[in-house]
Amino acid sequence: MNDQAGRLRQLVNERKRAGEEPHPPSNELSELESASRSRHRGARVLAVTGGKGGVGKTVIAANLALSYAMSGKRVMMLDADFGMANLDVVLGLAADKNIRDVIEGQSTIEDIIVEGPKGLRLIPAGSGIQSLANLTQSQVTALLSDVLNYDEHVDLFIIDTAAGIAGGVAGILYSADEVIIVAEPEPTAVLDAYAVIKTLVSKRPDARTYVTVNCVKSEEQGLIVFKNLESVASRFLEKNLVYLGAIPLDERLKDAVKMRRPSVIEFPNSVFSIAIRKVMAAIDRQSSSEEKLSGGISGFFNRVLNDGMNDRA
Ligand SMILES: Nc1ncnc2c1ncn2[C@@H]1O[C@H](COP(=O)(O)OP(=O)(O)OP(=O)(O)O)[C@@H](O)[C@H]1O
Ligand SMILES: [Mg+2]
Repeated sequence: MNDQAGRLRQLVNERKRAGEEPHPPSNELSELESASRSRHRGARVLAVTGGKGGVGKTVIAANLALSYAMSGKRVMMLDADFGMANLDVVLGLAADKNIRDVIEGQSTIEDIIVEGPKGLRLIPAGSGIQSLANLTQSQVTALLSDVLNYDEHVDLFIIDTAAGIAGGVAGILYSADEVIIVAEPEPTAVLDAYAVIKTLVSKRPDARTYVTVNCVKSEEQGLIVFKNLESVASRFLEKNLVYLGAIPLDERLKDAVKMRRPSVIEFPNSVFSIAIRKVMAAIDRQSSSEEKLSGGISGFFNRVLNDGMNDRA
């Protein structure tokens, strides 16, 4: 067991024994977090988001996660779209319990996790949760103590979020180390994507920010959108964006969604599935050059539960 997980588990157990207590003081969490940064590499924590609804965040997150699982990685997903959770459907799974049952103390994470294809595991979303940052101490304890059991057994933790930065999405986004922004060629979608990048950069200037352009008619169309975003981000935000490539509009993806079958499994040679694997390769090219010091899943949940990265703003 790594040091950080051990110390967190001890903290959680102490709190369990002590019963109901106020939310863990932030210095305690910060200490654990800095321990995590120095000793524990943990899973890569990637959030998928976009400025607009319906741009393909969920289909991209699901198929990217599955592509990683098919390549032998241990992948866990969190559906953090608390309003319109549908990641289970896109993955072809049926979730009858969700994170709300854990928060309310009726289930453990183990009870609610759904096993998907290729060993992928999903933590389903609970509707009606406004923000994970507003949970009470006993809810935090329930969630955190369960998550710790998985931290050392996962290579990638991929989070699907709702559109924009309203409510609970912000805390989730600011807590991830790598964020994929899904843009579309329409001018409004580009503006919305920029608005998310701007907020993200103001809160987490260190987070690696990727861009993919979905539903393109040509590679060139995607590149033009990216170049626009890149030049504005570098000029006004002094932020470098990393391009993951474009994803073509693909009718077979729509068929896969209707069939409730993931595209990379049902149609592995479709243009969408091929593009998703290129996105995965582009992400992997980025990671090899830098060390991961995120603290893995525990580090992520610590930040979310400690009200995102507000302290660093
Ligand atoms: N590359 C594509 N080619 C064809 N259709 C696509 C593509 N990307 C997304 N779609 C279609 O758009 C629909 C919506 O995608 P998805 O649910 O992933 O969007 P979202 O951004 O997660 O939406 P929300 O904001 O509601 O969560 C998909 O069911 C699919 O039919
Ligand atoms: Mg979605």
